[in-house]
Amino acid sequence: MASKIPSSFIDAVLARTDIVELVGGRVPLRKAGRDYKACCPFHEERTPSFTVSPDKQFYHCFGCGAHGSAIGFLMAYERLGFVEAVTELAQRAGLEMPQDDRPAAPAGPDLRPVLAAAARYYQDALRHHPVAERARAYLKGRGITGAVAKAYQLGYAPPGWNGLLGALAKDFTPAVLERAGLAIARDGAAGFYDRFRDRVMFPISDARGRIIGFGGRVLDHGEPKYMNSPETVLFHKGRELYGLPQALAAIEKAGQVVVVEGYMDVLALSQFGVGHAVATLGTATTREHLDRLFRYAPEVVFCFDGDRAGREAAWRALEQALTVLRDGRQASFLFLPEGEDPDTLIRAEGLEGFQARLRTATELPEFFFDTLCARADVSRMDGRARLVELAKPLLSKLARGALYELMIGRLAELSALKAPQAAVLAPARAEEAAPRPSPPAPVRGGTLVRQAVALLLQYPALIQEVGDLPPPDRPGVEVLMALVALLREMPGLTAGAIVERFADSPHRGILARLAVWEYPSLLPDREGVMRDIMRTLNEQARAAQAKERHNYLINKGSMTPEEQAEVVAYRRKGDTEAQ
Ligand code: UTP
Ligand code: MN
Repeated sequence: MASKIPSSFIDAVLARTDIVELVGGRVPLRKAGRDYKACCPFHEERTPSFTVSPDKQFYHCFGCGAHGSAIGFLMAYERLGFVEAVTELAQRAGLEMPQDDRPAAPAGPDLRPVLAAAARYYQDALRHHPVAERARAYLKGRGITGAVAKAYQLGYAPPGWNGLLGALAKDFTPAVLERAGLAIARDGAAGFYDRFRDRVMFPISDARGRIIGFGGRVLDHGEPKYMNSPETVLFHKGRELYGLPQALAAIEKAGQVVVVEGYMDVLALSQFGVGHAVATLGTATTREHLDRLFRYAPEVVFCFDGDRAGREAAWRALEQALTVLRDGRQASFLFLPEGEDPDTLIRAEGLEGFQARLRTATELPEFFFDTLCARADVSRMDGRARLVELAKPLLSKLARGALYELMIGRLAELSALKAPQAAVLAPARAEEAAPRPSPPAPVRGGTLVRQAVALLLQYPALIQEVGDLPPPDRPGVEVLMALVALLREMPGLTAGAIVERFADSPHRGILARLAVWEYPSLLPDREGVMRDIMRTLNEQARAAQAKERHNYLINKGSMTPEEQAEVVAYRRKGDTEAQ
């Protein structure tokens, strides 16, 4: 159905909606790897074939084929029309539906004063609100001292529906509170209510100490355990680091920054004397995080759980780190014992114990080679070749310098290669020289164009690896071109949002199918695979053009001497390539 809602607004709604949360509120989801599973709500079944992907913001049933974005899910599950579904999601996300043809109003008033006022209100409530006793007891029970509570401006959001709205009413309108992520518009009815209720509040600040959002923790076992501010003009989860302003001085002194996963970890570490710790906000480590971290210190230590999920998260952090590492910068990984986090560890083992652990953190090169060696059997010659293949594209992200040389040297030892530099450096120079680079390994079948589309849907950031596009001379290239054009303009879209963008297009069907085509996650070099695919596509197109030109020339009868030379050159090239 064509709608008059601007695509940019639909993007904004989807960007502020979490499909896992939306579906999870209606269907009991179970975590399975990076995705979630359930018995399909759209057909009868006993074993779950319905999956929801948080990365793609897309659901898909392998049983009945139902699939779509958060909007599609609401339409199917609640039997809503498109506009109704968007409206409902917009309300949940605290967005105002655009009026007819006017585009959604972007930026608005400065939100900092209202966030600061809210932080003061929560802090005040923790000390004086009649029912704050529970919150104080909770923090005390977790061993938080008054000094730390003060340094991190901890607060308490009382249980009522409009404590904050009421307290700030004389200075701020409810609409401003909503923009700041502090209040939510009531479904259907007029009015607003407080987003955070009966939670311990952790203000999140930018590096300059200005509050930009909040995290709120339940006092008991309610869900979600932590609720964070929604994305606002000021608050972008994938960029922020909790505890940064408090940690800056200690980071500078230590020349090191410790990255942990939780708010409570930062508090406990700081309380016990590890002042240089910050936390990501329940998201994977992004390139933006790393850029910022290395701006503050030459050494970054990541703390991750020792389990599989922790190691996968660490590998993703490593992949990001390679692109920003250079001489003088160090990254290491501290894997914690199962069931422990920095909070519990430092309370159990004290400052000394934790510092001892920090000193034993695995350096990035060691984690790098351990992980790759676990994937390639280096006792065999072909395994060693595979090791080089796996390492090559990753090492090529690393800036040239001493660290690069050292890692190449290690690769040489492990693979028993005599001239590893040549093997690793080859692709850059050989690009023109090699008559025909080996085509990318087909990933579970499919044409190259389809692989390119599927990769982009799964990892939209790969748009950066797409250079020139081949001419639209074969099926599917048009879809690829349309997708590339969209992602170049809007690189942040998830697969769900992309499919929604193509709702009225003939490409929708193929995109929706390819959106659920899994590339092995943790594919060690998806950037390289993407580049290889694009290079091969272009080469194939060039070869086809040359052939067409050749056929045209020999069929046209008389040729000029130049044309004859061209034909000879073409044939000679064909011969060399065939050898
Ligand atoms: P954890 O679930 O590991 O909790 O979440 P934790 O930090 O150990 O918390 P406590 O000790 O039980 O209080 C780690 C981080 O993931 C984000 C938060 O940033 C949290 O600090 N998170 C977790 C959420 O955003 N939402 C959740 O529901 C849970
Ligand atoms: Mn914890």
